[in-house]
Amino acid sequence: MLIQRELGGTGMRVSRLGLGTVKFGRNEQVKYPAGFDLPSDREITALLDQAMAAGVNLIDTAPAYGGSEQRLGKLLPERDRWLLCTKVGEIFEAGSSRFDFSASHTRASVEASLRRLRSDRLDIVLIHSHGNDLDILDRSDCLETLTKLRERGLIRAIGMSSKTVAGGLRAIDLVDVLMLTYNRADTSQAEVIEAAHKAGKGVLIKKGLASGHALKGHSVSAAETFRFLLQPPGVSSIIVGTINPSHLRENIAAVEAVPAAAA
Ligand SMILES: NC(=O)c1ccc[n+]([C@@H]2O[C@H](COP(=O)([O-])OP(=O)(O)OC[C@H]3O[C@@H](n4cnc5c(N)ncnc54)[C@H](OP(=O)(O)O)[C@@H]3O)[C@@H](O)[C@H]2O)c1
Repeated sequence: MLIQRELGGTGMRVSRLGLGTVKFGRNEQVKYPAGFDLPSDREITALLDQAMAAGVNLIDTAPAYGGSEQRLGKLLPERDRWLLCTKVGEIFEAGSSRFDFSASHTRASVEASLRRLRSDRLDIVLIHSHGNDLDILDRSDCLETLTKLRERGLIRAIGMSSKTVAGGLRAIDLVDVLMLTYNRADTSQAEVIEAAHKAGKGVLIKKGLASGHALKGHSVSAAETFRFLLQPPGVSSIIVGTINPSHLRENIAAVEAVPAAAA
């Protein structure tokens, strides 16, 4: 059974492995090693049951992941058992992305996520950065709007899925949770992870398997990879996207094998 870690000071405890759901809803304009068909409802239900049985309690989605939120809203068993993380800012339509960090779009996006996920509250909402993190933080109303929605009780924790070191460092003082890229080939966010940990903020890792390239050919094992990813103090959970039950099983076993003390 997967053990849990505190998500910074949010009061939430998350499994060390979370489930990423890009592939539940979108197979265009993605950077995976191979193309794929979207999974059927039956396949998604089986994956969610498998994840739940192992103690996964964190699911990451976004409006920009095609039908991901809608499918989770329809298929997620036992809603109260999960912590749902979604995002605002990126809109994926007709095969391409655009970004809107205005107050009105942020409010409308959160309301639409609540409807699609069939929830009355979102556990975590992250700003879905386009790359210019400082611009979003300094020149848009997105963060202020999310803060108000948190005050109104529609969101439990707010954060940023940032892309730059400067943006991540700036966001630490402003948000509850950071989502950062970290993997064997790219440790450039290590200083942000360290600073977030010192400030008591939650850290979620995205692209821990370098979008699938890390384990391609299996020159490095899943066990070694997850030991590496869970090593930096302050990392709460590794969000791994998969629609393959064997991969999910392998990832669960690899995370379970990492001692709790490697926290
Ligand atoms: N906020 C953001 O800006 C942002 C950006 C990117 C990602 N994310 C989030 O982070 C999640 C993960 O990111 P990601 O999907 O880009 O990258 P990732 O988790 O590093 O890699 C996912 C890829 O790895 C493959 N995979 C998973 N387990 C495997 C295993 N044991 N052996 C071999 N291959 C394996 C998956 O293929 P199979 O389906 O075949 O297993 C999938 O193609 C996303 O789903 C999303 O929720 C957020």
